[in-house]
Amino acid sequence: MTGRIGVLISGSGTNLQALIDAFAEDDTVEVAVVISNKADAYGLERAAAAGIPTVVVDHRGKSRRSFDAELVDALRSYRVSWVALAGFMRIITPVFLDAFPGRVINIHPSLLPAFPGVNAQQQAFDAGVAVTGATVHFVDAGMDTGPVIAQGVVPRRDDDGVDDLKARILAMEHRLFPMVMRLAAEGRLALRDGEVEAELLPGESLRLDH
Ligand code: GRF
Repeated sequence: MTGRIGVLISGSGTNLQALIDAFAEDDTVEVAVVISNKADAYGLERAAAAGIPTVVVDHRGKSRRSFDAELVDALRSYRVSWVALAGFMRIITPVFLDAFPGRVINIHPSLLPAFPGVNAQQQAFDAGVAVTGATVHFVDAGMDTGPVIAQGVVPRRDDDGVDDLKARILAMEHRLFPMVMRLAAEGRLALRDGEVEAELLPGESLRLDH
């Protein structure tokens, strides 16, 4: 059986590209649809170039709940079993979460619970931390608050500018997200009673180092 993933984006879509590349030759995991709330998101072109169907659902002029209901309809019509938020810049409501319970996963560019919200890399840089990183987590109704699945640690070097740090975190995201979405799509990841359960093979780890 193929694990079908719907990917939600709002922008450039480099994490989407990492998922597309990781599953390109795969018979068991498939990016089934890419949905954006922005018609000009570059990630839509990445999807089209890979032959993946795209849908635009504009969030403007509608309530959060009706926006989410449209997203759910689109995802259901492509029969996805998992949803990956890959730079999707909207908070989702219980309308969405109840449609895919324990099956919505987000990537965030910090070691949560540190530095939630926007500009996480800049927040970490400004705070002068020695290490930061990337987190993949189950989504709940809060902002970047759901149970952590996997993290990748990224050191800040003495001569780093914020852009160096951002680039190193993004490279970590591109390793971390496909790894987790593969576990999900292969039926090796679950959220049970708020706890993350993962069936790992020898050599696999939910903690990556730079
Ligand atoms: C990434 O840093 C991701 O962690 C955050 O939004 C950014 C999206 O980048 N949620 P891209 O569109 O995947 O390049």
